[in-house]
Amino acid sequence: MTAWLITGGAGFIGANFVRVAAAGAADTIVVLDALTYAGNFANIADVVDDRRVRFHKGDICDAALVDELFATYRFDCVVHFAAESHVDRSILGPQPFLRTNIEGTYVLIEAARLAWQGEAKRRFVHVSTDEVFGDLAPHDPPFTEATPYRPSSPYAASKAAADHVVRAWQRTYGLPAIITNSGNNYGPWQFPEKLIPLMILNAIEGRELPVYGDGRQMRDWLHVSDHCAAIMAAIEGGEIGGTYLIGADNPRANIDVVQQICRAVDAALGRARGTSDKLIRHVKDRPGHDRRYALDAATLRTTLGWRPRETFETALPALVRWYLDHKDWTDAVRTGAYRQYYERQYAGR
Ligand code: NAD
Ligand code: TYD
Repeated sequence: MTAWLITGGAGFIGANFVRVAAAGAADTIVVLDALTYAGNFANIADVVDDRRVRFHKGDICDAALVDELFATYRFDCVVHFAAESHVDRSILGPQPFLRTNIEGTYVLIEAARLAWQGEAKRRFVHVSTDEVFGDLAPHDPPFTEATPYRPSSPYAASKAAADHVVRAWQRTYGLPAIITNSGNNYGPWQFPEKLIPLMILNAIEGRELPVYGDGRQMRDWLHVSDHCAAIMAAIEGGEIGGTYLIGADNPRANIDVVQQICRAVDAALGRARGTSDKLIRHVKDRPGHDRRYALDAATLRTTLGWRPRETFETALPALVRWYLDHKDWTDAVRTGAYRQYYERQYAGR
C-alpha cells in the first residue's frame, strides 16, 4: 500500500497533479489545502472520493495537524505545492509568503524527517520556481542547476529560503528530498490573477489588457501537464538530493503572449482579427520586475528522459476554449475578494 500527501492540491498546478496521481500512482492520495483565495475545492471535486483520494482542509503551518496526517497515513511520498504564489500579491503584502512558503515548508520537512527516520525509499518533492535565480540579461545563458540564487521579489525570496531549508535538511538529516524549479506554467484551473488567464478572460469580456511597462519581459512558458509529467519522472527516477530545472525552451516576451491570446480569443469568438489587440494598455511597471527568465532543462531531459509534449501554438487556443467552457468556474472564483484585489492592483496604473 502506498500513500502520497499532496499539499496545495486544490490550487492550479496541484489540482492538475492530483488528477495525474489519481490515475494510478498511489493507493491513497491525501490532499492538504487551506483553500486560500487561490485554492478551490471545485478544482478537484470530481476526483475526490473520500476513499482513495481524500481531502483535508488545513494549514501546512499547523504542525499538530501535519504530524497527525503523517501518523495516520504513513506517507511514502510528499509532493509539496502549497504556497502563496503570486508576485504582485507578495509586493502588496509579503507576510503570508514568509509564513506559508518558509514556515510551512519547515513544518512539513520536520514531520517527514521525524516520521521517516532516514528511510531512503521515501520521497519529498519540493516544488519550486525559476524565480529563485533572479533575472537574466538579454544575452546571458539560461539558468542551470548551478546558477546562484538571487531572488528579486518577496515571493521569490520566500521560495529561495524554502529551497535552502529543504536542501539543508537533505544534507544534514538525510531527508530524501528532491527540488524542482520550473518556469511559468499555463493550463486549466489557473487562478485568473496570473498573466495568461487574466488576459484570456479580459479579452473575452472586452476589458482592458494591462501590460506592465514595455511588455518586453521574457518568461519561459511550460504547460502544466508537462510540469506534472516532469514531477512524476522526478519521483520515479530522480536522485535524492537532486535538483531538476523544468523548462520547455519556450521563451516569449509578455507582449507577444498577449497578442497571441488576442488572436486566439478573436478566432474562438469569430471576431475580426485585431479586435482584442485594441484592448492592450501599457500600464505602470511592477516594482523590481524581473526582465528575463530562461531555463536549461538538460539534466531532466538526459537523466530522466522527460520531453515536453505541448506547444504554445496548439495549447493556447485549447486553453481559450477551456476558459470559455468553464464560465461557471471562472465566475465562482472571481468573488468579492478577487474584485477587491483587482481594483487595488490596477487602479491608477
Ligand atoms: P496556486 O496559488 O494556484 O495554489 C497554491 C495552493 O496552496 C492553493 O490551493 C492554496 O489554497 C494552497 N495554500 C496556500 N497557503 C496554504 C497553507 N498555508 N496551507 C495549505 N495550503 C495552502 O499556486 P500554483 O500556481 O499551483 O503553484 C504551486 C506551486 O508551484 C507553488 O509552490 C509555486 O511556488 C510553484 N510554482 C508555480 C509556478 C506557476 O507558474 N504557477 C511556476 C513554478 C513554480
Ligand atoms: P505572472 O503571471 O504574475 O507570473 P510571474 O510574475 O510569476 O512571472 O506574470 C507573468 C508576466 O506578466 C510578468 O512579467 C508580469 C506580467 N504581467 C503583466 O504584464 N500584466 C499583468 O496584469 C500581469 C498579472 C502580469
